[in-house]
Amino acid sequence: MADTHGNALPLHRAVIVIGAGTMGGGIAEVAATAGHRVLLRDADADSLARGIARIHAGLDKRVARGKLDAATRDAIVSRIHADDGSAGTADVGLVIEAIVENLDTKVAALTPYAESLPADAILATNTSSLSVTALAARLPHPTRVAGLHFFNPATVLPLVEVVAGPATAPAVVDTLVATARAWKKSPVVCRSTPGFIVNRIARPFYGETLRLLQECAATPATLDAVLRESGGFRMGPCELMDLIGHDVNFAVTCSVYDAFFQDPRYRPSLVQQSLVDAGWLGRKSGRGFFDYREAADAPRP
Ligand code: NAI
Repeated sequence: MADTHGNALPLHRAVIVIGAGTMGGGIAEVAATAGHRVLLRDADADSLARGIARIHAGLDKRVARGKLDAATRDAIVSRIHADDGSAGTADVGLVIEAIVENLDTKVAALTPYAESLPADAILATNTSSLSVTALAARLPHPTRVAGLHFFNPATVLPLVEVVAGPATAPAVVDTLVATARAWKKSPVVCRSTPGFIVNRIARPFYGETLRLLQECAATPATLDAVLRESGGFRMGPCELMDLIGHDVNFAVTCSVYDAFFQDPRYRPSLVQQSLVDAGWLGRKSGRGFFDYREAADAPRP
């Protein structure tokens, strides 16, 4: 889809993934499957251990289903290292951060890498909605900064948005496009605008659903069924927000709303804020619109 002519990151260059949550774990698996050594890092040791365990469990499931052979699984696993920050980084060619959706936190997380990595290493953000332009401006080498936005689940969905700010070097965009292709993804190039392409177009999908729920027009299960069965969507909006995580989805909405100077079209929802306040973040916390806990008798999607 993207019309560029760069070379992919060579396989002997390692990849650092910061954040071992929903997205970071998936991105680490994608890069390791392509053949890179991957250093997976997280501010929280338990989250890192859980992230590695999730990757292993996912790969084991694919082996059990006959979709992956055991030797390939072992090779992928051997390339992913849970790293407390002590591993060598002289061969690192790309850092991708997939941490909390907050600009200050992302700047703080990426700054040490901008200072210490080889001069040609690319600094990428998996942000869903924050300004790549603003992030780059606050890092030491803005020409080396770009968005590399995967979709959830990153191991399955092919689309990747390669997001360029005004300072991003064209060669960096070219390398990321070629790398995404080498990782068997379908990259598209876009400029850094609020929500980029997908999260901009998807805002009304979530927003109108949340307004219907606030008006008690229908249940989440009904709305999902309508969109799946009549709209032809693979997932309904409520189960999709549960999959994304309400904290993440709400943060994206807030950020797009602010970026458009509080345009009411993008106003965040009190319904979603209350799910976030309750800690009902969706699948990852066991409960969101639907209940994913083992013994739950509440509706399941
Ligand atoms: P998550 O909550 O599942 O994982 C975030 C991880 O980052 C946690 O393990 C946390 O301990 C770690 N972390 C937080 N602050 C850190 C720091 N300063 N240094 C190192 N580790 C830190 O979040 P998720 O869903 O993986 O989202 C991560 C990023 O990816 C966000 O920017 C989000 O907007 C974006 N994204 C999320 C998608 C989704 O569907 N969940 C889809 C595409 C992008």
